[in-house]
Formats: sequence, structure tokens, C-alpha cells
Amino acid sequence: MLFKQQAWLRQKLLVLGSLAVGSLLYLVARVGSLDRLQHICPIESRPGSTHSQAEFPLRALQFKRGLLHEFRKGNSSKEQVRLHDLVQQLPKAIIIGVRKGGTRALLEMLNLHPAVVKASQEIHFFDNDENYAKGIEWYRKKMPFSYPQQITIEKSPAYFITEEVPERIYKMNSSIKLLVIVREPTTRAISDYTQVLEGKERKNKTYYKFEKLAIDPNTCEVNTKYKAVRTSIYTKHLERWLKYFPIEQFHIVDGDRLITEPLPELQLVEKFLNLPPRISQYNLYFNATRGFYCLRFNIIFNKCLAGSKGRIHPEVDPSVITKLRKFFHPFNQKFYQITGRTLNWP
Ligand code: A3P
Repeated sequence: MLFKQQAWLRQKLLVLGSLAVGSLLYLVARVGSLDRLQHICPIESRPGSTHSQAEFPLRALQFKRGLLHEFRKGNSSKEQVRLHDLVQQLPKAIIIGVRKGGTRALLEMLNLHPAVVKASQEIHFFDNDENYAKGIEWYRKKMPFSYPQQITIEKSPAYFITEEVPERIYKMNSSIKLLVIVREPTTRAISDYTQVLEGKERKNKTYYKFEKLAIDPNTCEVNTKYKAVRTSIYTKHLERWLKYFPIEQFHIVDGDRLITEPLPELQLVEKFLNLPPRISQYNLYFNATRGFYCLRFNIIFNKCLAGSKGRIHPEVDPSVITKLRKFFHPFNQKFYQITGRTLNWP
């Protein structure tokens, strides 16, 4: 009887053990297969690289998801990073705006791509005179470590609306790729207002209602002096950029679609950046609590954007919305015409 029980127990332990080992093997294989790349085509092939195309991807990912992460957390020394041939590269593409268009979501989502490395902070090099005076080496040192075949992307939405920026970026790299993410202009203006309002409330300051800022009380016309309105006149800003860069160097991202259907928008960006399609539906999952898509790097790592993204907007008088939409309409038409991307805004 006792012998029978022992045999039964041994058999049970064996089954449980095999299950545990099997699950472990599956996890390892799954993570590995997610990060394993067949072929990466860099934006430009760079002479003098020490890595073969075949060996780059997996190692790059290990660094990207591991060592760089550790480094950022201060768990790995700069010397260790140097040992592994990582470099700080100037960006090959910049998300130049537009503020509240979804710039953070775009950067984070592009960072899912194994050949992309993001500069996490907004660097404000080209729009801030003090930073700009520190020189290009200062800027480069602000960039994350990456492999030479990877591309660095930074985002500073203030670039789009700041007068001096196009010329300064042109001087750094006249063939840089420029990403502009836009949302329906009135919604963007309200989002902009909501962000400022939150800041005021935090400091216990009173603030005007959106309607009062957006509409000139004397003329009852749209107040073009209000920054949130001016920023949404995309075509005016874009025209300044076009004095330096041809339209082919810009890619317009539909920020409204990035919220509801991010994958096709990201695939267009991959194409524009000459990257092989690597971001898949697996990397994006809808989080009903947040009401937004969140990011999945692998079965272990996933994240949603911070709570400051996706704020609840205040209710705005519908007549003001109508007035604003009417005001933006001709500018939008021009924007579609220049960019070749029609966004069907009202
Ligand atoms: P709201 O806060 O008005 O909803 P930016 O990063 O340029 O400041 O843009 C912020 C906007 O990104 C948010 O505006 C939000 O709607 C949008 N967004 C797009 N995709 C998102 C995502 N996956 N998670 C959170 N916010 C997202």
C-alpha cells in the first residue's frame, strides 16, 4: 500500500516537474523568438561598422532591452557600455511636433522597433538658445547609446513652432527625416488648453475658460493671438520649414488614427524611415481602463503611457467649436494640399 502511494507521488512529482521545465523552456523560446530578427535594413548603410547584419539584431535587442535599460537605471557603468561598442549618435529622424498631437505615443511606439532607439527626454536643443549655444557635441551626448546600425529618434514638439529651429536642424543634417504628428486642430487646441489648465490648478491659480481665450471678446472672432490656436494652424508653421527642407523629408502622422488604430500609422512611419516592418499587432494591446493602446515589448515587459497622456477635456461651448473648425478649415485644406495627406477634418 505504502509502496503504491510512493510510486503515485513520484509519478505526480515527475509530471509537475516536466510541466515546470516545459513552461520555462517555452518562456525562454517565446522571448527569444520575439526579439529575433531576420534582417534589419538600416536607414543608411554605414561604412566601418564592426557588426555584421546577421549578428546585430539579437545582440542589439539584448542591449537595448537590457544593458541600456540597466545603464539608465545606473546599474551598468559607462565603461561596460563602451566595451560593447555602443555609441551616442545624432538623431536620424526627429519628431518635431505638434505639441499634444501624440508625440510621446509616437516616440514610444517607434521605440518598439529593434532598430530604433529613443531619446527619452525632450532635449530642446534647437529651440532653446542656451542649449543651442552649448554646441552639437552637447546635443550628441544627450543621446542614448545605440549600435551604429540603429537609428536614434528624439522628440521635442516645440521645434515645430519655433522660428529658428528649421535652419538650425538643417545646419546639423540637411537630409534628416522629419516626423510631424497632427490631430484635428480644434481638438488639439483643447488638449493644449487642458494641459495648461492642469498646471495652473496644480499651482492653485485661477485660469480663464477655453471659450474666453479662443474667442476675442471684442470682435467675437477667433483669437489668433492665443497660442493654442496659433499652434493648430499647421500649414503656417510647415511653410517656414519648407524654406529649408523639401516636402519629401517630412512624414505626416495622423494623431487621431494613432489613438484608435496605431498599427497602420506605425507601418507608414517604418516605411518612411526605410525600416523593415517589425512592429506588429502583438506589440500593441488595447487597455480598456486607460482607453488607449499600450505597448508590449515581450511577454514580460509592457507599459501604458503616463496618466498625463489622455486627459479628460473640459466641455467646450459647441458654437465655439463650430467657429474654430470653420476658422481652421482653409488652413487645413492648404495643409492637405502641401503634404499630400488628406485627413478629412471637419
Ligand atoms: P489628450 O491628453 O488630449 O488625450 P503629446 O504626447 O504630444 O503631448 O500628446 C498627448 C496626446 O497623445 C494625448 O492627448 C492622447 O490623446 C494622445 N495619445 C495617442 N496615443 C496614445 C496612447 N496610446 N496613450 C495615451 N495617449 C495617447
